Amino acid sequence: MPLVKSLLDYISEKNVRFHMPGHKGGKGFSPEFLKNLAGMDITEIPGSDNLHYPEGAIAEAQHLAARAFGADRSYFLVNGSTCGIHAMIMAACPPGSKLLVPRNCHKSVWNALILGDIQPVYIQPGYDASRHIITQISPRQVEEALDSHPDAVGLILVHPNYYGMCSHIEEIARIVHSRGKLLLVDEAHGDHFPFHPDLPPSAGEAGADLWVQSAHKTLPAFTQTAYLHGREGRIDFSRVEETLRMLQSTSPSYILMASLDWARNVMEICGRQLLANLMNNLNETRNELEKLGIPSLREICWDEISALDPTRLVLDLRNINMTGYEAEKILRKHGIQIEMSDWYHAVLICTVVDTQREMDALVKVCSSIIEDTENKFSTISDKRNAINRLISDISLSISREIPKQMLSPREAFYSKTVKVPLKESMGRISAAAIGAYPPGIPRYCPGELIEAEGIDELLHIKKLGGTLFGISTTEAGDMVSVIEES
Ligand SMILES: Cc1ncc(COP(=O)(O)O)c(C=O)c1O
Repeated sequence: MPLVKSLLDYISEKNVRFHMPGHKGGKGFSPEFLKNLAGMDITEIPGSDNLHYPEGAIAEAQHLAARAFGADRSYFLVNGSTCGIHAMIMAACPPGSKLLVPRNCHKSVWNALILGDIQPVYIQPGYDASRHIITQISPRQVEEALDSHPDAVGLILVHPNYYGMCSHIEEIARIVHSRGKLLLVDEAHGDHFPFHPDLPPSAGEAGADLWVQSAHKTLPAFTQTAYLHGREGRIDFSRVEETLRMLQSTSPSYILMASLDWARNVMEICGRQLLANLMNNLNETRNELEKLGIPSLREICWDEISALDPTRLVLDLRNINMTGYEAEKILRKHGIQIEMSDWYHAVLICTVVDTQREMDALVKVCSSIIEDTENKFSTISDKRNAINRLISDISLSISREIPKQMLSPREAFYSKTVKVPLKESMGRISAAAIGAYPPGIPRYCPGELIEAEGIDELLHIKKLGGTLFGISTTEAGDMVSVIEES
């Protein structure tokens, strides 16, 4: 049982978990709840209700969720926000219709465009070249996109992003609704927002029409759990429900659904106090880490950002001459597993389950890493700084133009494709989303025309030490999947 063994090994390491799921190894559940898990794994029998046609306990639990999250209707999801995003887009946008899509959206959005045969109108989000972080789209960009595409059904917004950066969602909602369009929101990382007034405005508060939250990311709930919420007025909920029946299993896990009910209850009853404690602890932790020379994202210095999620701890490692990738490995060696890393940052997911103990452990480990760093890492800093400077230069020059769209994502998906070397792909139509990190968003989306400028950019970033995605490296070089020429 290799998987079981590897999971048990991870448990035996007793790492401090700054990663999802938000229950953090079961700490977010009561012993009673955990003891009954296997017993709660049942099917549709008298008393357990039916997710697809709820009339009893599930209907009541969903109703309570709607009240707690500020929605008119809420649906339990057992296949993550991925499934909620598919359902939300497919239910709201008829085949052939247009949807405004930020290019930094999650891959589930692209897949929804393919599934529903929807035409994207892309919006390029902001990019902080000094940090290599994609930020958000601005209200003005939404306004301009709607001016150019008055026939669009609406907008799908990512709010917040992985770094906890929030868009000007309230202003964007006003713009979208003033034109009679729909606001759909991927709030996968923001399920805790409704439960404390010091947190950024949630999609529900901003008046979104449909929005999705991954309960498993920031609430005490199991992996794969999510909510799809909706506001009455512009949405046909019978279509939403029919789409969910199409996309979700006919045997949804009662363990997952129970944890959605559990998470809602915890947040409704004591979320405000728990979040206040978490934010206080994090405030002190940030101060301590700053004293060590590790600041974290705290100040809002981007026009397109309205707020930062104070529960998302994004460590800025530039002062200590260490990349996020290096930090992630070293932290794990010291018993701390983080959520993700990039060139300059380590991103930690903190939830209401985390206490002062976990924060103290982090500060202690960082303090000992700093001592080591002074000895080991300064030697390579000059080389890395040179690479970073070059990458900043090239990133600044990255074209903000959206490439020409030749085929819809669905047409590209169903076309015959061939692999060709990236350097010979000029004039071909990309079959996949391809790009480089940094900046970390697709240079070409499926169906877009590849030009010489984009090829040079991608190859240059790779040469400087960046990584390519959607591109396979073989003996023949970097290969891209393109549409076969007829
Ligand atoms: C912004 C965003 N949206 C959607 C998803 C998909 O969520 P899930 O893993 O719950 O399917 C993710 C996953 O990481 C995400 O980061």
